[in-house]
Amino acid sequence: MLNVENLFKQYIFRDPQGRKAVVKAVDNVSFSLEENQSYSLVGESGSGKSTLARLLMYLEKPTSGVIKIDGVNLAQMSKRELRNKRARWQMVMQDGQSSLDPKVKIYDSIAEPMRNFYKMTKNEEKQRIETLTNMVELPPEILGRLPHELSGGQQKRVSIARAISVKPRFIIFDEAVSGLDVTVRKKILDLLLRLRDEIRSAYLFITHDIDVALYMARNIMVMKDGRILERIENISTLEEFKHDYSKLLINSLPPRTPEYRQALL
Ligand SMILES: Nc1ncnc2c1ncn2[C@@H]1O[C@H](COP(=O)(O)OP(=O)(O)OP(=O)(O)O)[C@@H](O)[C@H]1O
Ligand SMILES: [Mg+2]
Repeated sequence: MLNVENLFKQYIFRDPQGRKAVVKAVDNVSFSLEENQSYSLVGESGSGKSTLARLLMYLEKPTSGVIKIDGVNLAQMSKRELRNKRARWQMVMQDGQSSLDPKVKIYDSIAEPMRNFYKMTKNEEKQRIETLTNMVELPPEILGRLPHELSGGQQKRVSIARAISVKPRFIIFDEAVSGLDVTVRKKILDLLLRLRDEIRSAYLFITHDIDVALYMARNIMVMKDGRILERIENISTLEEFKHDYSKLLINSLPPRTPEYRQALL
């Protein structure tokens, strides 16, 4: 479904001495993702995960390399083709609040992607929004509020409702549960897993937490310094990680009981 070939993204900036410096945020990445499969992308802060996600969404252009959806190069798509592809290809951004417009009421925020892609009567829209609000388990009274009047967990749920509203084939979640407390995190992760079955979408789940990565998908990619160091399909035990850095990620986790690990895998 998605192929990425030799993808690079460099940022040029001035260091404190005013000299030009280059960051290789994404450094020669190649992979393919299959339809109806979910993936986790795990790596430390600054490893290039969000940059890679923005490239896949074509929110930014790669420095070089090719991204193909269903065999078609994104760089060669017309604006219209790209727009239609994007509808089936959604992303929930790293920071819930900043991905929601602070001046737009929640109702309109959830409605916006649908208004861009479907023709609906006001009544159909209202019904659809009620259904979505239910699906993400939000109380209907939040619909008239502004983003800052919601908790962090509620804001995440609004972003999720927006993403699933256009029935995407694929959703990228960038740090969907970071910054939330442990119980809210677990609830949102479980909600996402339930929704995945319900809407039959596939996920690319981005996280710096290898436990969360394993909880969300059996196909894992480990990223560091802009590169994919290791990729494991259909993982069943942590022993399958071969790369030293992956082992370091596992070993740096707080101690877990074997039962906890078992429950995750
Ligand atoms: N717009 C930009 N301009 C310059 N450098 C950037 C830009 N965006 C990202 N970078 C740099 O690229 C590298 C990768 O950043 P990125 O945000 O992709 O990491 P990340 O893995 O998502 O980190 P985190 O887990 O903290 O979200 C970092 O060194 C970052 O400073
Ligand atoms: Mg990031």
